[in-house]
Amino acid sequence: MIRLPNGLLLCMLSWALLAGAQIELAKNYVCTDDFCDNYRENSQCDTLKTACRAQNSTHNGILFPSATPCSCCQTCVENLLPGADCSVGGLGYPVPAGICGPGLFCKVAEGDEHPTCQPMQESSTCYTAQKEYDDQRQAGLIGHLMQRPTCDGDGNYQSVRCIPGQTCFCVDEEGNRIFGEAVNTANIQISMRCECSRLAAKARKLLNSQYPVLTSRCDSKGSFDQLQCVDDMCVCVDMHTGQPTSDLRNVTKGVSILPCFDKRMHENFTYLRDCENVKLAQIYDIVQFAESDFNVLEFDRDVCQPDGFYDRIQLHPTDGYKYCADKDGAQIESFQAPVNTRLAATMTCKCARARKLLLDSKSLEVPECCPNGNYKSLACRRGECYCVDEDGTQVGIERPEKDKQNLPCYNGGDYCPLAG
Ligand SMILES: *[C@@H]1O[C@H](CO)[C@@H](O)[C@H](O)[C@H]1NC(C)=O
Ligand SMILES: *[C@@H]1O[C@H](CO)[C@@H](O)[C@H](O)[C@H]1NC(C)=O
Ligand SMILES: *[C@@H]1O[C@H](CO)[C@@H](O)[C@H](O)[C@H]1NC(C)=O
Repeated sequence: MIRLPNGLLLCMLSWALLAGAQIELAKNYVCTDDFCDNYRENSQCDTLKTACRAQNSTHNGILFPSATPCSCCQTCVENLLPGADCSVGGLGYPVPAGICGPGLFCKVAEGDEHPTCQPMQESSTCYTAQKEYDDQRQAGLIGHLMQRPTCDGDGNYQSVRCIPGQTCFCVDEEGNRIFGEAVNTANIQISMRCECSRLAAKARKLLNSQYPVLTSRCDSKGSFDQLQCVDDMCVCVDMHTGQPTSDLRNVTKGVSILPCFDKRMHENFTYLRDCENVKLAQIYDIVQFAESDFNVLEFDRDVCQPDGFYDRIQLHPTDGYKYCADKDGAQIESFQAPVNTRLAATMTCKCARARKLLLDSKSLEVPECCPNGNYKSLACRRGECYCVDEDGTQVGIERPEKDKQNLPCYNGGDYCPLAG
């Protein structure tokens, strides 16, 4: 017997109405306790490594939900000791079985050939957040889906943060979410490094511009689009460094002559995407207005994302509401909010976008969203409920579903911004 919370059932019914063909699939969108009990019985989880079973001063590790359906199993990532060999990751590297323990990071020291675990700068925000996490873990205040912050050698946040079973997204050096998102799969943190997205975020910050800014085009995961063009001239670049890997070519005869042309991502004769054309027209208008000394406040937001597709939030041109858009600018399900309301002012559409990404990839776990496309502040999974932040990450410890009113985010059962 599979138990369903009411919301989930309703939600499944509306999918069934929307997409009859997905009915069979919809039945599987149920990461319940029973589902996992069954899964573990039939498929058996791998035995946890010694480190996670011992948890003493020399052998310890962190348990992560593993890349199994509904993350029903756990996997152990061992904490490595100072001086131990480690992997900095990179294309072709396996997923690490161990990561440098608290206060350490993976670095190639001078005169060394292989990276080893070494002490990290102690004052950085990321390091501080790590210590806070470790303290809270000691105190039993860390929930199942809360991940320990990962820092780089300078004590900055690493570029990717993941929600187990859902999506991974890019963050800047201070840990704030920026453009770039992908389904959380086993190897995603190896190919996803968000270099382009960080560059775009920096450019926007440095120029401190309220107007659209032009930077290198990124792909959806925040890496560089390997094809970069300005007018007729195009060049291939490395997806992680953005450095040219080909000559600059005049492509009036079609972009497909370049080795980095990918027909799933690019069109032969037009490099610019729909949204980029809209944005260029806006920039052109802004220049015109500015030349005639007008104030151009109406262009207060970039309509596109750094991948040249439409931004998550779009304003309906005539009907007075904002809506959550997919990358082509079409509304996602019925996520919208009337302008000049609190629903519109607080709108992020982060949940709507993640939901679309997960549904399209036939994921087993799909978040429920507020009518305005935000994450609900309280989520339940496998019989337990927990608080969720704006980006969909768990905050604080979970409680059994029947005790959910004791969660700080319970708010009388309202998990979404109120209308009005
Ligand atoms: C920690 O656990 C491991 C594995 O069980 C064991 O070999 C080791 O001696 C233990 N170390 C300490 C300090 O207790
Ligand atoms: C590219 O080639 C076309 C046709 O051969 C020419 O008209 C155009 O000026 C060239 N563009 C550049 C930037 O050289
Ligand atoms: C792109 O256009 C060129 C010139 O017409 C043609 O030779 C080539 O086959 C086209 N490539 C694709 C992938 O359509």
